[in-house]
This record gives sequence, C-alpha cells and structure tokens, in this order.
Amino acid sequence: MADVEDVKELKNFHVEVPARCEGFFLKGSNSLGWGMKNRLARIFHPGTGRTVMLAIDHGYFQGPTTGLERMDVTVPPLLSYADTLMITRGALRTTIAPEFTKGVVLRASGGPSILKELSNEQIAVDVEDALRLNVSAVAVQVFIGGEFESQSVHNLTRLVDVGNRYGLPVLGVTAVGREMVRDARYMRLASRICAELGASFVKTYFVDEDFETVTASCPVPIVIAGGKKIPELDALKMAHRAIQQGALGVDMGRNIFQSDAPAAMIQAVRSVVHERETPEAAYELYRTLARKPRRRRT
Ligand code: R5P
Repeated sequence: MADVEDVKELKNFHVEVPARCEGFFLKGSNSLGWGMKNRLARIFHPGTGRTVMLAIDHGYFQGPTTGLERMDVTVPPLLSYADTLMITRGALRTTIAPEFTKGVVLRASGGPSILKELSNEQIAVDVEDALRLNVSAVAVQVFIGGEFESQSVHNLTRLVDVGNRYGLPVLGVTAVGREMVRDARYMRLASRICAELGASFVKTYFVDEDFETVTASCPVPIVIAGGKKIPELDALKMAHRAIQQGALGVDMGRNIFQSDAPAAMIQAVRSVVHERETPEAAYELYRTLARKPRRRRT
C-alpha cells in the first residue's frame, strides 16, 4: 500500500517559469506529431540539424555489391561513425546487432533487379514489420519520368498514409533513369513532388549547377546520395558543396564502403557534414586516419 503519512507536501509549481514553446529544429517538420519528430531526431543529429546516413541497401536490387559482399565483416566497423543506417530488413536482422540504437531508415520498396525495368517497384515491407524492427523511417524510391512513374508515386503516398497513422516518417528517394538528365530542373521537380505528396525528407543527387534551388524549393530536408565511386577528395568536395547549398546531410554508400579506407572516409565525411570542415582539411583527416593501422578485434 502507498504511504499516506509523512509524505513530502512542499510542492514547487515554478510559477515564475513560463512554459517553453519551442519550434522543432528540422525544416518543414514543426507540425508533425511527437513520435514522428522523435524518429526524425534519431536520423538528424539534433546538435547540428544534419545527418550522415550510411547507405548500405544496394543489395535489394544489385545483389552483393562491391564492398558489401560480406556485410557482417565490412559494416560493423563503420557503425559508430554513422548517425543513421539506410538498410533492408534482411540485412538489418542478419548484420546489425540490436544494441545499435541510432537511426535506421528501412528500404521499403523493391521488386525488379538490375536485370529488369527498375521503376516497376512495389511496396516491399509491411508497416507492422517496420514497427517491429523499431525503425526511424521507411524509404521508397520514386521514379519521376520513369516508365512506372505513377505506380512509384502511389507507393510513396500509400506509405505516407500508413506512416502518418503510426508516426513513421517516409523518405522519398528520387531515382534518375538512365535516359534522364541529372540537372537542377529535374531534381527540383522530383524532390518537390515527393515533399508535396507527404515525404518527411527527400534524397536526391547533387548537381553542379543551381543545387541551391533544389534545396530552396523543397519544403522538407534534403539529403544527397553519394552516387558511384569517385576519388575521396572529389566526394568530400561534393558533400561540402551540397551542405553549403542547403542539404541537411548525406546518404552515402559507395563512396564510403568502396573507399580504400572506409572508416577513415566516413569520419572525413562527418567532419564536412557536422563541423563544416573544408574538403581539403577533411581529406587530410582521411589520409591521416587511413594511414593508422587498424586495431585487431579480439
Ligand atoms: C540505391 O541503391 C540506394 O538507394 C542507395 O541508398 C543510394 O543510391 C545511396 O547510395 P550511393 O551513395 O552508393 O549512391
């Protein structure tokens, strides 16, 4: 039975302290519910408002991608440097220890392999399984201008509806078909469509000209994909320019896990994203860390 005698009576209602009424730190996210915001705060670092997402979901249509042949070997050494993982449920369950408590963005669309028409994707994860896995968001590919454009847009809107029901954010991933021009005009079109149809954040590619118009015209955060492997300094320059022009992070895969020194590279990327380090200084960091012998795991 609860104590009823000699209980501490002196209460302090702090009447002189006004209740706080603060906005949420993330662009376009202030009107979302608490659960949605909490999940976004696991993806975007609340200290800087930006994120380093490690993209390792390539196997969902490419199979054992170079650098990810043995995810259980190559991914764990990178985990402490990522704010968030972008990953499939199969890889999450088999490769990532449940003690990993950072953000997880779950790949939720799929279907065709590299041997088929890529835009013909369907929703590939039930939201209940996403919630069972305690993920922070689900990601769906949107193929604007692609053969199955409408189908992929409907995949997005269906996930947004169900995500809203459970407080689960949706990442709209803009996919650029082989025959399409990767320019600011296309990226503005694709990312704005994702945002208008309810994506909580959007992934696009960086473009050399007018990228700031892509971030400016998208009312929710944009993160950039890394794209195919390029020299480390060039990848760091791209990340730096994207952040300078309004991207709120990177969702980078091959330029990290296909680097000669993936752990050094992700730390260099972090310095650009979170500390706004110059690409040259970040590259020096990369070279220094890459030279250090790796500690043998016991
Ligand atoms: C595509 O396979 C996935 O959505 C990747 O997560 C995305 O392309 C980012 O990876 P990368 O930096 O290798 O382009």
